[in-house]
Amino acid sequence: MSDSPAGSPRLTRRPEWAALEDHRTDALPQPDLRQLFEADPGRAERYVVRVGDLRIDYSKHLVTDETLALLQELAAATDVFGLRDAMFRGERINTTENRAVLHTALRAPRDAVVEVDGENVVPGVHAVLDRMAAFADRVRSGEWTGHTGKRIRNVVNIGIGGSDLGPAMAYEALRPFTDRSLTFRFVSNVDGSDLHEAVRDLDPAETLFIVASKTFTTIETITNATSARSWLLAGLGGDEKAVARHFVALSTNAEKVAGFGIDVDNMFEFWDWVGGRYSYDSAIGLSLMIAIGPDRFREMLDGFRIVDEHFRNAPAEANAPLIMGLLGIWYGNFHDAQSHAVLPYSHYLSKFTAYLQQLDMESNGKSVDRDGNAVEWETGPVVWGTPGTNGQHAYYQLIHQGTKLIPADLIGFARPVAELSDDLKAQHDLLMANLFAQGQALAFGKTADEVRAEGVPEEQVPHRTFRGNHPTTTILATELTPSVLGQLVALYEHKVFVQGAVWNIDSFDQWGVELGKVLAKRVEPALTEGADVPGLDPSTAALVAAYRNLREV
Ligand code: F6P
Repeated sequence: MSDSPAGSPRLTRRPEWAALEDHRTDALPQPDLRQLFEADPGRAERYVVRVGDLRIDYSKHLVTDETLALLQELAAATDVFGLRDAMFRGERINTTENRAVLHTALRAPRDAVVEVDGENVVPGVHAVLDRMAAFADRVRSGEWTGHTGKRIRNVVNIGIGGSDLGPAMAYEALRPFTDRSLTFRFVSNVDGSDLHEAVRDLDPAETLFIVASKTFTTIETITNATSARSWLLAGLGGDEKAVARHFVALSTNAEKVAGFGIDVDNMFEFWDWVGGRYSYDSAIGLSLMIAIGPDRFREMLDGFRIVDEHFRNAPAEANAPLIMGLLGIWYGNFHDAQSHAVLPYSHYLSKFTAYLQQLDMESNGKSVDRDGNAVEWETGPVVWGTPGTNGQHAYYQLIHQGTKLIPADLIGFARPVAELSDDLKAQHDLLMANLFAQGQALAFGKTADEVRAEGVPEEQVPHRTFRGNHPTTTILATELTPSVLGQLVALYEHKVFVQGAVWNIDSFDQWGVELGKVLAKRVEPALTEGADVPGLDPSTAALVAAYRNLREV
């Protein structure tokens, strides 16, 4: 494969890459965390970076100062900061879609100037935020009523992917800050049972639907929104005028919104320079803003901004997203790690990893570089995980004693949420003790001699030995506030950016989801009408026939 047309060498041909490979081979079988800490206890304090309210400890990684320096050289050689600056400047770094990538403008202060094609986009961002705030206040205060004059008690967000995962995750994360007198539901799946369960106990007269879709063409969302409209009209006597009081839209596509029958006065817009998976701090966050109120929403945006500014200004060796991205590259590209676990020790973050799956895997699940050449290096990892203590009693066994290397992030908070009873608050130390214990066990394990010293019979020693050396990052914050949530999300957004920049891939397109969408549309008539689908492969044709037969039984 030739070098890129721009003349820069392919990633794996760079001397900085070779240096990392040599460094890895020199350290074989692999660096040992016990030895690393023995030789350099100071790494516990030195390998910590602080950003806003986050304390990010990466001392339990299989790295030395030399590893980190070599990784930094790779970042410099691949000009990660150059691409970062181009992103913040509004250049069209999403080359396959010819778009700027400016989710950072969504949290820019009012007086900032961020230009796309010579136009400052910041006033538009704040105009929409102000409209959202006015609307959210009207719903929260009861001033915005439904068609029959009843106040809105239920808010149902209909969207999928970035138009669902972000608001749903953040609503869950910030529940203690939400108006508990309102009910929030999030519908995404085209499986009709999702909408059915979401609305079955709701009064249509008190229900507001927020149809969230950047393109307003996504079949799942439009199908669910159409069904929701039928449910509403059936419940309110069929008067079409009801739609205007019970449906609002979040989109970049005013024409399609109007075509669907939603008044564009009830549309909150965003722009093509906001990717779906980077959009919940745009109008897509309206349901969240209604839940937590405009002030809290703005605190969250401030949190995002703290990390944006850090990513933009902190020196490389103290730049948290850069360090986290490079550590992932160290394992994915030089240690054959295939996945990355994100394990929050907070029940409120139960949807955080699912959110990160789209952020990371839709961004960096690519196998051609920016020039269209097949990559000869691993790209994005499989991201997975659930809240930590539950995982401990399910899949941690494999992390501790399985054959795979699984780097993990452990996320915890110093304080439990304020509204818990004293008894429940007292459980927090136990929760956090689990986080710290897991980090310790994963890093340092338990040697055969230590197991023997406990009097364990010899034949059981291998089974009860932990080899350790499983790398973790521990992210600790004081409390899960709106600002801290914004900081966490921005941290991962920029980490994903760093990795895409090093791998020289376009992290902002998602062509890989298109084929399935096209084929689903083509196959559907075979299911509904038994139509012949030209070119249907024999395996799928047999499945369709079996489905139709079973359905008739
Ligand atoms: O399936 C891919 C995708 O385009 C995501 O990137 C996006 O977040 C999701 O679909 C929903 O898209 P939309 O907001 O346009 O309905």
